Amino acid sequence: MRTVSQQTIEIVKSTAPALEKHGVAITTRMYERLFENAEVKAMFDQAAQRSGEQPKRLAGAILAYAKNIDKLQALGPAVQRMVARHVDTGVKAEHYPLVAEALLPAIRDVLGDAATDEVLGAWGEAYWMLADILIAAEAQAYAENAAA
Ligand code: HEM
Repeated sequence: MRTVSQQTIEIVKSTAPALEKHGVAITTRMYERLFENAEVKAMFDQAAQRSGEQPKRLAGAILAYAKNIDKLQALGPAVQRMVARHVDTGVKAEHYPLVAEALLPAIRDVLGDAATDEVLGAWGEAYWMLADILIAAEAQAYAENAAA
C-alpha cells in the first residue's frame, strides 16, 4: 500500500475549495479523456454520463477524499459503495493507470495555472494511495465471489 507525505496531505487538503467549485468540470473532462478508450467507455452507463450523475458522483468522492485524506476511516462506507460498483462492472487493477492518466491532465485542463506541478504531483500520489485501497478491496471481493 502506498502512503503519502505530510506535505502531500496538506497540498491535497488545500485544493478542497477549488474541487468544491470545479469538481464536476474536472470529472466531466476526465471522462472525455478516459472515453477515448472505447473498451473502457463500454464499461460505463452512458445515461449516467449524459445526466451528469456519474461525473457528480466521482467529483463528490474526490472532494470527500481531499477533505479526509488524513482520516481515511471516515470514507469507509463510500469506499464500500465504490468497491461494490467496481466489482459489478469488472474494474481491475490494470484499469487504474488509465484513470490516473485521464484525471491528472483533466485537473490541469480545468484549473490551468493553479494546477502547479506541486499540486499535480501531490494529487498523483494521493490518487495512488486511494487506488491501492480500492484495488486491494476489489481483489478480495473477486476472490470471495470466486470461492462462493
Ligand atoms: C481512485 C480511483 C477511482 C475512484 C475514486 C472511483 C470512484 C467511483 C465512484 C464514486 C463511483 C460511483 C459509485 C456509486 O454508484 O455510488 C464509481 C463507479 C464506477 N467506476 Fe470508479 N473510481 C475509480 C477508479 C475506477 C477505474 C480505474 C475504473 C475502470 C475504468 C472505474 C470504473 C467505474 C465504473 C464502470 C463505475 C460504474 C459507473 C456507472 O454506473 O456507469 N473506476 N467509481
